[in-house]
Amino acid sequence: MSKNKTPWQADSWQTKPALQQPAYPDATALDTVLGRLKTLPPLVTSWEIEALKTQIAAAQRGEAFVLQGGDCAETFADCNSATITRKLKILLQMSVLMLHGLKTPVVRIGRIAGQYAKPRSADTETIKGIELPSFRGDLVNSPEFTQAARIPNPKLMLSGYQHSALTLNFIRSLIDSGFADLHHPENWDLDWVQHSPMADGYHAIVSDIASSLDFFETISGHPISTTRRVDFYTSHEGLQLLYEEAQTRFLPHRQRWYNLSAHMPWIGVRTAGLDGAHVEYFRGIANPVGVKIGPEMAGDWLAGLIDTLNPDNEPGKLTLIHRFGADRIGEQLPPLIEQVKQSGAHVLWMCDPMHGNTETASNGRKTRRFDRILGELETAFDVHKANGSHLGGVHFELTGDDVTECTGGARGLNDEGLDRAYLTQVDPRLNYEQALEMAMRIASRVQ
Ligand code: PEP
Ligand code: CO
Repeated sequence: MSKNKTPWQADSWQTKPALQQPAYPDATALDTVLGRLKTLPPLVTSWEIEALKTQIAAAQRGEAFVLQGGDCAETFADCNSATITRKLKILLQMSVLMLHGLKTPVVRIGRIAGQYAKPRSADTETIKGIELPSFRGDLVNSPEFTQAARIPNPKLMLSGYQHSALTLNFIRSLIDSGFADLHHPENWDLDWVQHSPMADGYHAIVSDIASSLDFFETISGHPISTTRRVDFYTSHEGLQLLYEEAQTRFLPHRQRWYNLSAHMPWIGVRTAGLDGAHVEYFRGIANPVGVKIGPEMAGDWLAGLIDTLNPDNEPGKLTLIHRFGADRIGEQLPPLIEQVKQSGAHVLWMCDPMHGNTETASNGRKTRRFDRILGELETAFDVHKANGSHLGGVHFELTGDDVTECTGGARGLNDEGLDRAYLTQVDPRLNYEQALEMAMRIASRVQ
């Protein structure tokens, strides 16, 4: 396949068909917002972005493991101290369990501080004969079914930028002040971990880690400097291209373009067409990027994505996030692994066991079953191993809250139980306990 060396600009995507873009009725208001976004300071820096790329390159070589997780859709309303803290805690706890089990550094990437735009299957929604634009996430419009709420409002992009900044500011402060210190994992205990059937297992592992650290520090005479900033990175689906473009800057000291709204943006499965605007936009930025790989992406498509998104085969640059579903992964993944092996491309293979396993529960709720999520993940580990490759990361939709959106897990949540705390704006997320159990299963399996 020939490499795409046609000139690229931050706005060259505008010449291609762009799926999933809102239609803003007020062009003047849109221009004002974009102009402002272009001048506001970046949310992340190229140093952080390059550090993440280095860590993803290590994961590609099997020397680290990537944990990516967070909400399907963040909301502005959930930008508060308790929700952010709980999300950070669950990701830290999961990473500690994985670190212990996998005996390898764990790179944490939140679906956080910018995951505000969602792809929809239809542009409009009709209720009782009234047709209105679909809700596309807080970055674009509001969920209430009224004309005023559903008309895309460009000011929400400024609000999205501000909520991302507030979230990131709080995360950086928590981490800088020692919240993530491995010596004090008790900081992260969520109130009700005490009542979980897995609490004992979790505490045993955590105290094992703390005593290993103490032992190491005693014999070496040096503190392990875990209180300085642990690495925590941000990501979101790079869906709303005007928003992404406005935060894309050319950095003279690197002579490259960066998307400075998140460390690792990804392309969703619905917008990964080779001739589409999203792939065009993503091919020009220096960030590590993810691309979701679904059941329909057969050989040529994948080859085209790899060639276009990483023409120079730069290590750490490209993560393939496969999401086939528990029933299909065993059949669909092996040929893709073989093809990537043949091509010599550096990629990180990551498994998203959520998006191929969405179903409707007996009471009509959209749900996912714990066993199927775990099943896809276990198959992913097996298939990679059997095909001479390795799974280097996992991608979850989860929350630090006690929601009831996915069934199963240690407490055996059933379909009827879903109604108690079904809060998601879009897809069903693992709750705190289910997420912790998932991490323990991954860790113990590899041991
Ligand atoms: C998502 O990650 O929330 C999502 C929409 O995923 P996908 O593009 O894989 O369907
Ligand atoms: Co989702």
